[in-house]
Amino acid sequence: MSSAIPDSVPLRRHLASWVNRVRGREDPNQRAARQHRSFDAMSGILAWMLSHAGERLQPAGRPRGRALEIGTGQFMAHAAALYVCGYDRVLTIDRYRQVVPALVRASLETPVLARRLLSPYVDHDDYVARLRRLETTQYDLGRLAETGVEYRAPAEASALLAQDERFDLVFSYTVLEHVPPAEIPGLLDSSSRLLAPGGVALHLIDLEDHRDPRADPFAFLSPTGMWSDEACGERGNRVRRSRWGQYFQETTSLNWTFPYAPVRRDAPLPPRLDAAFQGLDEADLRTSALLAMAVAPGTD
Ligand SMILES: C[S@@+](CC[C@H](N)C(=O)[O-])C[C@H]1O[C@@H](n2cnc3c(N)ncnc32)[C@H](O)[C@@H]1O
Repeated sequence: MSSAIPDSVPLRRHLASWVNRVRGREDPNQRAARQHRSFDAMSGILAWMLSHAGERLQPAGRPRGRALEIGTGQFMAHAAALYVCGYDRVLTIDRYRQVVPALVRASLETPVLARRLLSPYVDHDDYVARLRRLETTQYDLGRLAETGVEYRAPAEASALLAQDERFDLVFSYTVLEHVPPAEIPGLLDSSSRLLAPGGVALHLIDLEDHRDPRADPFAFLSPTGMWSDEACGERGNRVRRSRWGQYFQETTSLNWTFPYAPVRRDAPLPPRLDAAFQGLDEADLRTSALLAMAVAPGTD
């Protein structure tokens, strides 16, 4: 009888979420937690991003040591995947306290594909042991920190510089496009100085208008006048590929490469462009995402 009590709460939660799904009333964030923000999906993205670093991950192409994630979001799926694929310490920070424990649990509810997707980086027994360790915390933030996965929010990358800790990986996924342009140089400078010698930086930036990325990914390039910080948060900061290249090269001492920068031609550009984008070539305007990678000097 007593052992039935702890199980009844997850069961009730599970049933309620099924009922909402069947009625078509599922919360969009819950849907994201099961779909494109699931632990499976985010493990795939992580594996793909790490694959661009290849042997530059130390030692010998393996993710090991300390990872810093900038911009946790609501789901914490990348922080979990970073831990599961081999990093023993994962510090995940966010400017705003966005994490929702129910979404974290939903994202990690039934991993199926992650063990295959992360297999280049972690052997099966280690994968299972690490995932179990996370599961035993029931994704309680305090207990997660005991495993090595620490969530800190509100927090800024620049504030971490005062501490001694440096990281073998500095990582972000769909975060930099939300940073207001005036703050980009400071964030890139701080985050690159947080790399340990030989550490790898990997940032995936989504360059599409987040309002309707499927049908109208470049709508925000039309004349608008002022583009507010709120608009950067909701739809993206509109910074184009060539300008990102300048930001990375000019504000850090690292040598950046951009191994993924797809040009999207299936959607229209606005008939008139905002003055900020006039004179840019069409491929620059149409670049829809950017993966930026750099390696800090030294390997000690
Ligand atoms: C679109 S969400 C992506 C979250 C997560 N990476 C994911 O893919 O689910 C962007 C996140 O970045 C955070 N963020 C924005 N600017 C930041 C900054 N300067 N430092 C740290 N986090 C930031 C936001 O609060 C938000 O949680």
